[in-house]
Amino acid sequence: MIDIHAHYDDDAFDSDRDELLQGLFTEKGVNGIINAGCNLESSLYSVKLAERYDGMYAAVGFHPQEVDAFKEGDLEIIKSLLTHPKVVAIGEIGLDYHWVSDNKEQQKSLFRKQLELAVEMNKPVVIHERDCVADCLEIVLDYDVKGVFHAFSGSKETAKILLDRGWYISFPGTVTFKNARNPVENALYVPDERILTETDAPYLTAHPFRGKRNDSSYMRYTLEKLAEIRNTTFEYIERITEENAKRLFRI
Ligand code: NI
Repeated sequence: MIDIHAHYDDDAFDSDRDELLQGLFTEKGVNGIINAGCNLESSLYSVKLAERYDGMYAAVGFHPQEVDAFKEGDLEIIKSLLTHPKVVAIGEIGLDYHWVSDNKEQQKSLFRKQLELAVEMNKPVVIHERDCVADCLEIVLDYDVKGVFHAFSGSKETAKILLDRGWYISFPGTVTFKNARNPVENALYVPDERILTETDAPYLTAHPFRGKRNDSSYMRYTLEKLAEIRNTTFEYIERITEENAKRLFRI
């Protein structure tokens, strides 16, 4: 299994981070993890984790909720991190109007700057979108970039627009939730060559462990659910999601 989106820099892992990661790679069948940066500090931490473990990779960038923490010079630092061999993407970047929506223009401007950097540095992007799908689509479709919408919960119509433009779609544990509707519909719709899986650990833990701290071992339940929805085997979903992650992130 390859977990294309996790946050092992989170405080939730402070007590057992190294032991946990070691176990995931050696005993739990996890073949790769991309740790996503949200600001400068977590981007630097992601790179440090990637240097410590063969199977760990980093995405670096500013999450839309971190727009206030962003300073102009930070973009140069992000750019320099992108030349590191274990830094495979810019992320997570995007828009989020769920908690704070009075800073839309700052969010959009930061998003565009990071998409421009992705074009310049020829790197894929990891997109975070919440309650802003129209604005998000309008912006990403302006750029000739490849990437993935992480924890995608949009409609099938939105999925179609993204897939037509070469984007990948990633499913976390939410696809296993009893009330999941869009994720299940999309899990059936996304073609084999564009589907990815993730945990978003420590969040979004799959059923029957919903609410507990997430880690990449729980992705097994997400893969099992995807196999059930798509009427195929766990092994097949595991193989194609690994192949897709390797292709998109060149790992
Ligand atoms: Ni995330």
